[in-house]
Amino acid sequence: MKNIRLQDLEFEPFISEEEIKQRVHALAQELKAALAEENPVFVCMLSGAFIFAADLLRAYDKDNTEISFLKWSSYQGTSSKGKMTEHLPLLIDVKGRTVVIIEDIVDSGRTLEALHQHLKEKDVKKSLVVSLLYKPQACITNYRPDWFGFEIPSKFVLGYGMDYNEQGRLLKSIYTLKEKTSSC
Ligand code: IMP
Ligand code: MG
Repeated sequence: MKNIRLQDLEFEPFISEEEIKQRVHALAQELKAALAEENPVFVCMLSGAFIFAADLLRAYDKDNTEISFLKWSSYQGTSSKGKMTEHLPLLIDVKGRTVVIIEDIVDSGRTLEALHQHLKEKDVKKSLVVSLLYKPQACITNYRPDWFGFEIPSKFVLGYGMDYNEQGRLLKSIYTLKEKTSSC
């Protein structure tokens, strides 16, 4: 796999398409077993989780599965700006429901904290989170995903739904920012 350049930055291969595929299928089975007694509604966090959610839920493969969408953002460029902006609200009634949030990545954990609070105010039965990636060293809240695909270091990543200034979402594997090598 080759490095790619997007705008001003260079990215190198990090997690391959095949590794993602295998892990997503295994995660779907974990979810199926853990949620066997529930009738959950899945909430896909746009835009970053759209590809993960599609692959995960098709592997989860239950005919009565419900999915809805929510679009919030806190990121600009390669870092979180902290303040959450809502672009698309939840359009379904989740009162009394078990909600499983599908995230692309848990970084500072601020989005998760705000999401759990938001769902609590909507009187859900419980809110759970499945995230493809988890950066434990970057997490500054007490919120962790209930399931995750890969634990990764605190480096910026893109591909498989995740973007750098809206580009790179359709890359089939995950790339990470190439470290600048100093030349003397
Ligand atoms: P948090 O609120 O800091 O946990 O960040 C959550 C959101 O920021 C994620 O759902 C992503 O959309 C975005 N994000 C965090 N880290 C990255 C990254 O390395 N690449 C692309 N987006 C990221
Ligand atoms: Mg996201």
